[in-house]
Amino acid sequence: MKPVLHIDSENRSIITAMTGASGAAYGLRLIQRLAEAGVEQHLLLSKAARVVLKQEADIDLPEQTELATSVLAQHLNVSSQHLHNYALEDWFSPTASGSAGIKQMVIIPCSMGTMARIAGGMSDNLIERAADVILKEKRQLIIVPRETPLSSIHLENMLKLSHMGTHIIPAMPGFYHKPETIDEIIDFIVNRVLDHLNLCNPEAKKWGV
Ligand SMILES: Cc1cc2nc3c(=O)[nH]c(=O)nc-3n(C[C@H](O)[C@H](O)[C@H](O)COP(=O)(O)O)c2cc1C
Repeated sequence: MKPVLHIDSENRSIITAMTGASGAAYGLRLIQRLAEAGVEQHLLLSKAARVVLKQEADIDLPEQTELATSVLAQHLNVSSQHLHNYALEDWFSPTASGSAGIKQMVIIPCSMGTMARIAGGMSDNLIERAADVILKEKRQLIIVPRETPLSSIHLENMLKLSHMGTHIIPAMPGFYHKPETIDEIIDFIVNRVLDHLNLCNPEAKKWGV
């Protein structure tokens, strides 16, 4: 049976962004879980995310946003009804302004480049702008950074964002639950993200419970 997420009214609209770090499977799985739960998702994909999607998941996303949404939905076997994809220069999208009231954003996976630009307040594309909006409105930003090893620049940017309230959930899966498949390893991280989004997720294993 598919796991069910319980959504309260505050959690109905989430920005899900994928950037060009390795770990496209994390982003795909989160999009799938949220779509299955009927969460309204605003999808933002960097150019490099598309390259990684092709390399790691053999997904060739068309440029046209509606087409890209339907290719993604088909690949994930979910309805595209609650998926909205925007071009990275679509400054008129609801993700570009605080007045649209979107309260949560996840960047999964998050590249060191995007993280640095957000920490520096660049707002040069819609992902950076959306994150900038979430931070200025003091709403919830979750990032799932992926790189190894980490330089002092990466660590400083993480610390800076953490001081601003960003939830840093690095793509560092644990192994104490003895995963047997890659999917279980992916779900370890995605379940932690769902926890932080405050979505009730009966599937997630709780330590000591
Ligand atoms: C297959 C592949 C894997 C990559 N893995 C990483 C990674 O794990 N972390 C990272 O910060 N950049 C990684 N990069 C490099 C980024 O994609 C590159 O820095 C890009 O400019 C990031 O752009 P974005 O932040 O707009 O997505 C990878 C690139 C490719 C093609």
